[in-house]
Amino acid sequence: MNVEAQKISHWIKTRKSTFVSGLKEGGKIDDAAVELLLENASWAPSHGLVQAWHFKVLTGEAVKRFFEVQKEIYKTITARARFKQHKYEAYDEKWKRVSHIVVVIAKRDPHKRFPKQEDLVSVACGVQNIYLSLDAFGIGGYLSTGDVCYSPQMRKFLELEREDEPVGFFILGIPDKTTTSVTRTRIPVAEKTQWIK
Ligand SMILES: Cc1cc2nc3c(=O)[nH]c(=O)nc-3n(C[C@H](O)[C@H](O)[C@H](O)COP(=O)(O)O)c2cc1C
Repeated sequence: MNVEAQKISHWIKTRKSTFVSGLKEGGKIDDAAVELLLENASWAPSHGLVQAWHFKVLTGEAVKRFFEVQKEIYKTITARARFKQHKYEAYDEKWKRVSHIVVVIAKRDPHKRFPKQEDLVSVACGVQNIYLSLDAFGIGGYLSTGDVCYSPQMRKFLELEREDEPVGFFILGIPDKTTTSVTRTRIPVAEKTQWIK
């Protein structure tokens, strides 16, 4: 493998999620760095250059407000049997470690040139570009999704239009180097590959 091939494989394999517990309390990212992450996201491929990605960036007080809203929606939409009190209470602490939240939205192509799933796939490529950029910028984070993200209440809070799809919340902060990182593994790709000759 040549050096360039080794480098790209290294970047891809060391890309990782850093969850809220792995972010430094009070850590702040410059808005300019977040702009660069989004610039990298926007170089994702898209069929016919539809570029369906759209971002809402929350920072400062908006981060705290966001977690308050998430907490309330979680309570409203979660069936009693699935409700976890510790998860509910944890929303109160998250804002302390989170600098910015990028709401990633797949905005439906107004001309509907391609199936909706293609808009989503291209936005997912943009998400991967953000992931790949994090380490180099000294930023940690992960994509957060789930029932609250997809709820009508969250759609309302985010003022989404009818055809917009919320892809997830990219939670960003400064990595806390004192926390131990988990061992990351993958199922060998050969087990997921069929060669047809
Ligand atoms: C579409 C998508 C949705 C995800 N949703 C969540 C989530 O709701 N909560 C969470 O803790 N992690 C979420 N993640 C991050 C995964 O937990 C993470 O990618 C996985 O554990 C593998 O870790 P790695 O990113 O370090 O390789 C999501 C990732 C993707 C791509």
